[in-house]
Amino acid sequence: MQSLKSYLNSVIGEAMAETTLSKSSNANVITSSKPDFGDYQANGIMSEAKRRGLNPRDLADQVIISLNRSLPSLIDRLEIAGPGFINIFLSETEIKNRATRALQSPTLLIPKSEDPVKVAVDYSSPNLAKEMHVGHLRGTIIGDAIVRVLDRRGHTVLRQNHVGDWGTQFGMLITYMEEALGTDNDLPNALSDLESFYRKAKQRFDDDPAFADKARLTVVKLQSGDADYLRAWELFIEESLRHCEAVYEALNVTLTRDDLDAESGYNDDLGDVIKDLHNAGFLAESEGAKCVFLPEFTGKDGETLPLIVQKSDGGYLYSTTDLAAIRLRRKLNVQRALYVVDARQSLHFQQVFAVALAAGFAGQDLMLEHISYGTMMGKDGRPFKTRSGDTVKLAELLNEAKQRAYKLVTEKNPTLEYVERQKIAERIGIGAVKYADLSKNRTSDYVFDWETMLSFEGNTAPYLLYAYARIRSILRKAPEKKVDEIQNLSTPEERALCLKVLQLAEVIEAVDRDCMPNQLCNYLFELSGLFMKFYENCPILKAEKRQMNTRLALCSLTAETLQQGFELLGITPLEQM
Ligand code: ARG
Repeated sequence: MQSLKSYLNSVIGEAMAETTLSKSSNANVITSSKPDFGDYQANGIMSEAKRRGLNPRDLADQVIISLNRSLPSLIDRLEIAGPGFINIFLSETEIKNRATRALQSPTLLIPKSEDPVKVAVDYSSPNLAKEMHVGHLRGTIIGDAIVRVLDRRGHTVLRQNHVGDWGTQFGMLITYMEEALGTDNDLPNALSDLESFYRKAKQRFDDDPAFADKARLTVVKLQSGDADYLRAWELFIEESLRHCEAVYEALNVTLTRDDLDAESGYNDDLGDVIKDLHNAGFLAESEGAKCVFLPEFTGKDGETLPLIVQKSDGGYLYSTTDLAAIRLRRKLNVQRALYVVDARQSLHFQQVFAVALAAGFAGQDLMLEHISYGTMMGKDGRPFKTRSGDTVKLAELLNEAKQRAYKLVTEKNPTLEYVERQKIAERIGIGAVKYADLSKNRTSDYVFDWETMLSFEGNTAPYLLYAYARIRSILRKAPEKKVDEIQNLSTPEERALCLKVLQLAEVIEAVDRDCMPNQLCNYLFELSGLFMKFYENCPILKAEKRQMNTRLALCSLTAETLQQGFELLGITPLEQM
C-alpha cells in the first residue's frame, strides 16, 4: 500500500505530464490546511504553468478533466481553488477500506521503500577517554530513531558507532593507569568513575613535564603496535565501552558491540589515504603539515582554509580517519552515509565531504549527509551543566529522570504497588528525556527542561503514553475482543481520525528522506489530539453494536499506530498508567 500522498503525487503528476505533453511533472501534493480545501491539495500546477507559459487555472481545469475521465477510486472529487490549486477530497469508502486492511495487517501502516538502499548511520560515537555526557545524548537518541525508521522502511542499515579510541589522550590515560594502579589490578574499580580518572590523569599531565613526556612516548608506542601498551589500552577501552553500553541499555538504544566503527580500526589505512591524496595531486605542505586546500573554503580574511590530514610530526588527525572511513563505506557498497553529529562539526564535515568528492572517494554512488543537531542548553540559555559548572554525566541524568518520574507517579497514583510504580516511572522518565529531544527540530539548539518534558499536557511523552494507556483500557473493557472492520464513518471525528492513521505512511517517508524525527513526534501528537476529540464526541461502549464495533476498531487502529510510532522512537509504552 503506497502512502496516500505519494499515490496522489503520482496520479496527479501523471495527469499533468499528459496534459502538458511532458515526460514528468511534480504535482507537489500537501495535506490541506483547512477541511474546506479538501484532504490534500496539489500545489504544483502554478509552477508548471509558469514554466510552460500557460494560464494556471486553465491548466488546472484540463488536469481535472483528464483525471475525471477515469477517476481513481481513492478520490471522491477535485476542485480548482485560488489561482490554480487543486483541492482533493478523498472517498470515504476508500479511507474506510484502507483502514480496515491496515487493521487486519498492521505492517501495512508503514510501506517499504520503493528504492531500498544500503545506508550507514554514524551516531552516538562518544570519545572513550571520558564518560558519556549530555553532549552525546542528542546524537545517540536522534541517530537511533533514524536507524529504526530506515530499518523499518526496508533499507539495509549499518549502524556505525565511530568511537574516539585512538587519540593522544590515551597515552596520558595509560601512563596514569600504570602509575595509579601499580600492582593492584582492580581496573573496574579504578575506572568506576571515568570522569574523575580522566581529570586526575589530566592534572598529572599538566603538572609534571616528565609525566607528559612519558605520555607522549606512550602514544607513539601504542600507535606503532607495542604489545604491552596495546594490552593496557584494550583494558581501558573495555571498561569505557561497558559504561557506554549501560547507558545504551538504559536509553533503549539499539547499538551493540557489532556496531563499533572505532577510530583505531583505521590505523593501518591512514598512510594510504595520504598516498592517494598525494597521487591525485591534492596535497600541499603548510608549516610542515600536509593539507588539502579547496578554494570553496575560505576564512574571515578571504584566505583559503586547509584541511590538515597529517601533522608535521607525522601524526594523523580526525579528518584523516574520516576520509579512511568514507573509503571503507564505499568498499562496503554503502549508497548513503549519514553522520548524526553536533552542528559545531559542520565545517569539518563540509571539508571532509568536499575532499572525498574531489578525490573520488565518494560520488553519486555514495551520498554523504551531515545530519546535524544543535546544542543542549539549560533553562538559562547556556550549554547544559551541573550547578557547579561540570559536564553532566549521562548515567546520572537518566537516574534523575527516573527519580523525578517516580515522584510524579507516586503523586498521581499513591496506592499502586512499589514495583509497578518503579516500572511506570522508568518508562515515563526515559521516554520523557528521549521524546523531549526527538520532538524538537534537531537543527536548533534545544533547551533541556525537566518540568516541560514531564508534563502531562502538551507535546510530551507523558501525554502520549497516557493517551495510549487510555485507549488500551477502553479496549480491555470492550465486550467484543476481535474487531477488525471499520463499517462506516458516521461523524467528522471518526473520519478525521481514520484518515490520520493512514497518514503515518507519508510521515515515515518524510523521516526516511529528511531524517527529522520531530515530524513523527508531531504526527503522534496530532493523532492523539484527534483521538481525544473522537473520544469526547463519539460514545464508544454505549453505542449500538455495529457502531460500537467500528469505534472499537478505530481505537484499536489508533493504539496500533501509536505503538508503531513509539517503537520507531525507541519509547516503550505502558498498558496501564
Ligand atoms: N568522537 C567524536 C566526538 O566525540 C564524534 C565522531 C563523529 N563521527 C565521525 N565520523 N566523525 O566528537
